[in-house]
Amino acid sequence: MNAAADARCATRLLDLIGGNWTTQAIGAAVTLGVVDELARAHCTTEQLAQRTGCAPRALQRLLNGLAAIDIVTRDAVGRHALSATGALLREDAAGSVRWWAQWCSGPQWSLWGNLAQSVRTGRSARTLAGGRPGYAHLQADVGAARLFHRAMAGLTRRIGRRIARDLDWRGVRQVVDIGGGYGELLAEILAAQRSVRGIVFDLPHATRDAAAYLAERGLAARCSVVSGSFFEPLPAGADVYLLKSILHNWDDADALRILRQCRSAMPAAARVLVVERVLPAQAAGGRRERAVLRSDLNMLVSLGGRERTRREFAELALQAGFTRPRRVGTALDYDVLEMRPAPARRAQPAAVKAPAPPARLGRGTRARSRDRRSAR
Ligand SMILES: C[S@@+](CC[C@H](N)C(=O)[O-])C[C@H]1O[C@@H](n2cnc3c(N)ncnc32)[C@H](O)[C@@H]1O
Repeated sequence: MNAAADARCATRLLDLIGGNWTTQAIGAAVTLGVVDELARAHCTTEQLAQRTGCAPRALQRLLNGLAAIDIVTRDAVGRHALSATGALLREDAAGSVRWWAQWCSGPQWSLWGNLAQSVRTGRSARTLAGGRPGYAHLQADVGAARLFHRAMAGLTRRIGRRIARDLDWRGVRQVVDIGGGYGELLAEILAAQRSVRGIVFDLPHATRDAAAYLAERGLAARCSVVSGSFFEPLPAGADVYLLKSILHNWDDADALRILRQCRSAMPAAARVLVVERVLPAQAAGGRRERAVLRSDLNMLVSLGGRERTRREFAELALQAGFTRPRRVGTALDYDVLEMRPAPARRAQPAAVKAPAPPARLGRGTRARSRDRRSAR
């Protein structure tokens, strides 16, 4: 490698190694109230330091960093303001990402320090540290639960309207949002489709605030909230079962258990809509792929889950008793995959020898051993 190429590579690599600072700079801007103050009025560093109780020179350095990544701007007389990007951190922004910024720079932050261990063992940092798998940690921590569910609601609002508007909701009377958090996706669907009713189904740390959230959006009359686990029987008889950002939290055995609970609860004409970022089958490069690959590692380190390719979703669907999923929509980086119950096999007349059951697609030894584990 010549000297110029070596310098280019080193610069790129050092930028990548130091990439963590932006998460914390943005998180600090929210936590310290800098975002809220700048949302109220443009101000100088001194005014901002006084209003947020920060050390002026240290705050100036934070503002310099935030200006370098286009979160704040500075005018000729030294007054700061939020940029168009930074304004998405305002509490009143539609689809605000302020809580996501706090979640990533706060509770989620330390988990990433254990990525190597998670890769070595295939286990989440939380379980490696002796914690329980899944979302049990939020049950004991009301503050963390509120932050997480608001963060998810903000992200989901960014795609919910499009899903509510673009998909075919004809004939749909009842939708269940499984693991729906505060029910943001359902709320967008109910707001756009006036004849639809809904149920938000989630663990108590989500449902304790979900009803108030839905009431604030004027949807209480058409929506109820049910506490429960999707590893146990689900509300039966709905037309649509939503699974948004659910399957990626879990390994294949648990994802299969969730899909099978949906399959058991739903009538033959109902469908599951899985809303997830889908891993490309082959490396495609680009921002969208990097986002899903980042999320894949995030799922590993925080929950032991994983992102999946279309083919992997198809394998899960077929094993859970659905037809091959069909992509029925997209919204930003997300795909909407529709799964319909596979038609029941017809019973054979007694006199006719039944043929050997056909080999099911994609059921290798690994899939069978996953099934055995999930049945436990
Ligand atoms: C990544 S969040 C997705 C929330 C929502 N669907 C969205 O996309 O905005 C995962 C959700 O699954 C819920 N969850 C986790 N384990 C659950 C269980 N066993 N039963 C029901 N919900 C569960 C969590 O409480 C959380 O709300």
